[in-house]
Amino acid sequence: MSQAEKDGGMDPRGPGRLRLFQKGLEARAREDQLRSLKHYRPEIQAPYVLRDGVRLLNFSSNDYLGLATDPEVREGAASFARMYGAGATASRLVSGGLEIHEALEAELATFTRRGAALLFNSGYQANTSVLPALVDRSGLILCDRRSHHSILQGAVLSRAKLLRFEHNDPDHLEALLTGHGQGHRGVRLIVTESIFSMDGDRAPLAEISEVAERHGALLLVDDAHAIGVWGPRGEGLAAGHERVDIVLGTFGKAFGASGAFVASAPTVQSHLVNFCGGFIYSTAPPPGMVGAVRVALGKVRSGELRQDLFIERVAEAHERLRRGGVDTSPSDTQIVPIALGAEQSALDCAAFLEDRGILAVAIRPPTVPPGTSRLRVSLCRHHTDEHLAALVDTLSEFRSRAPRRGEVSAGAEKTP
Ligand SMILES: Cc1ncc(COP(=O)(O)O)c(C=O)c1O
Repeated sequence: MSQAEKDGGMDPRGPGRLRLFQKGLEARAREDQLRSLKHYRPEIQAPYVLRDGVRLLNFSSNDYLGLATDPEVREGAASFARMYGAGATASRLVSGGLEIHEALEAELATFTRRGAALLFNSGYQANTSVLPALVDRSGLILCDRRSHHSILQGAVLSRAKLLRFEHNDPDHLEALLTGHGQGHRGVRLIVTESIFSMDGDRAPLAEISEVAERHGALLLVDDAHAIGVWGPRGEGLAAGHERVDIVLGTFGKAFGASGAFVASAPTVQSHLVNFCGGFIYSTAPPPGMVGAVRVALGKVRSGELRQDLFIERVAEAHERLRRGGVDTSPSDTQIVPIALGAEQSALDCAAFLEDRGILAVAIRPPTVPPGTSRLRVSLCRHHTDEHLAALVDTLSEFRSRAPRRGEVSAGAEKTP
């Protein structure tokens, strides 16, 4: 019994059987890497949020098109919740399947130019369950060294042999397939993201597709950060590459909602319906989510959001940041890593911005490798020239005041 319990009070750390967790948390705190929850309230108008009553200009949101607060998207969620209920009540294979799930899947299949699509409750759930459904211990998974955590988890759960190719390096991928790929009778699956979530750079999908073709391997592309924004009709970066067998898209980013889908040939879809635990053993996506995504997808496809102009503005923003002394490489997308190297520099810079009304959260190990801490700035359709000017000016003010604590320009250590 702890002293606190003996004293008649509750130990705030919980009972002794939680002590190993407590130790782990204490270690994180000693390394200054303890994460804690904060809450934000979206302002009705993107891109502002309220934190503890303070209005902040948000450069840390994945709501790239500002659809999370769009009145029609919200009404889409509300109307489907009114019509079909707050929840789907069961998994799709039990009694949770609704016609609205199938209608959305049909639309997503057309949108991504694939034969079929399947909804999931999140991108994380999709990656961690689709990879093990496609490849078992007799197979081989080759994924980019900087893959999202959910992709790596999916690969580990599959128990397949896992090989990681150098970031965006099709030659290394080819060498791995040539060297280790033989002798595997099972499925060989290549996995990459189209836009990398922390660096904002793009994968060479044409070259990776060629490697996949030469080796007869399956290719899965996680299009989480491209879908809705990139591609002629916002269909993402993978849709245009026929050799991509499986496209994974998420709704929690440009669609302003939550959930995910996997688009593929109908055979793969049927395989997932029968063998993918994350689909089979999970309550079907809630009607509200389907309603929001349906309206968001309509807007994305219609062109009314003018993603083309947004992408032009993203290119201008990179130019402007560079002129302001900020190295934005390797990104050429709406995700802009601002390299600071040391963790403390990233924290100092984020705090400096926040004091001036700008939210740009520091990303530190273990999310990124040690020595590569950064601000992950995400540009959204609602950011104006004035918003961008505020960001550039505040970053250069930080740089001029704290040259030794944080180097915001080229030269900061960025890669592992
Ligand atoms: C590349 C990538 N894949 C998957 C996910 C997970 O998606 P979700 O937020 O829908 O779980 C994320 C989210 O951060 C991501 O960046």
